[in-house]
Amino acid sequence: MTTTPFGAQTAARATAVAARATDLTKVYGQGETQVVALDAVSLDFHQAEFTAIMGPSGSGKSTLMHCMAGLDSVSGGSARIGDTELTALSDKKLTQLRRDKIGFIFQAFNLLPTLNALENITLPMDIAGRKPDKKWLDMVVDTVGLSGRLKHRPNQLSGGQQQRVAVARALAGRPEIMFADEPTGNLDSRSGAEVLGFLRNSVRELGQTVVMVTHDPVAAGYADRVVFLADGRLVDELREPTADAVLDRMKRFDARGRTS
Ligand SMILES: Nc1ncnc2c1ncn2[C@@H]1O[C@H](COP(=O)(O)OP(=O)(O)OP(=O)(O)O)[C@@H](O)[C@H]1O
Ligand SMILES: [Mg+2]
Repeated sequence: MTTTPFGAQTAARATAVAARATDLTKVYGQGETQVVALDAVSLDFHQAEFTAIMGPSGSGKSTLMHCMAGLDSVSGGSARIGDTELTALSDKKLTQLRRDKIGFIFQAFNLLPTLNALENITLPMDIAGRKPDKKWLDMVVDTVGLSGRLKHRPNQLSGGQQQRVAVARALAGRPEIMFADEPTGNLDSRSGAEVLGFLRNSVRELGQTVVMVTHDPVAAGYADRVVFLADGRLVDELREPTADAVLDRMKRFDARGRTS
C-alpha cells in the first residue's frame, strides 16, 4: 500500500465501482452496412484504479470509451458512472454530468492557441461558471510538473507538455473518472513517458480513476490492469501487467487475426 496524503482515501475507495458497463451494445448503421461495434460488454472500472483498454483496430475501444463517457448513445445494455445510469438521462443532464464528473483526453491535445497553459486548464470550469478549488488545482499543476510553464501558450510548449496541459485540464474539475483515448499516440517516447507517469501519479497520489485506450504495450505497463477487446467483445484481462506480458497477449491476436 502506498502512503500518500491521499493513501487512506485511496485504500477506502479501492473497491468502489467508478463506472460500470452491463451488456453494453452499440450498433452503427443498418441492414448490410450494420456494424456491431460493441457486443454485450460487461465491465467494471474501480475507483482509484488505472485501466488500459487494448485490442486490434476496430475492436470497439473508442466506442466503449465514448459510450461510457456519454459522448455517444448506446444501442442496448447499460452504462453507469457511479450510481448514475447514462441511458436514462436527458441531453441536458448528460451534458451536466459530462462537465461535472468526467474528464476526457483525446489523442489531439485540443488546446486553444490564444490561451496560456493555466487558462487552458481552467477553461472548462470558467465556461461552467465553477470556481477551481485552489488547493486541488495547485496540486494538479504541481503533479503534472507545469508550475514554471503556466504563462506559456501551447505553441511555446513541447508536445509532451501540451498533452500534460490537456491532462491537467481534464483533472482540474476533479472528475470522478478520466477517459483517455490514445493520449500518447502523438508523442515521442520521452514525452509519452511523462504523460503516462503523470496519469499513474494521479491514480496513486490523487486517488483518480483513469481509463486509457492504447496500442502500446509499454504504455499499458503503467496501468493496474489491462482489458482486451476483440470484435466488440471483452476477451481477456491482465492484472499488474508488464509490457512483456501485454506483448505476449497481443501476439495471440496477431497470429490468427482475431482472438481465441
Ligand atoms: N460513427 C460510426 N459509424 C459507423 N461505424 C462506426 C462508427 N464509429 C465506429 N464505427 C465502427 O465500429 C467499430 C469499432 O470502432 P472503434 O472506433 O471503436 O474501434 P477502435 O478499437 O477504437 O479502433 P482503433 O484502434 O483503430 O482506434 C469499427 O468497425 C468501426 O468501423
Ligand atoms: Mg479508437
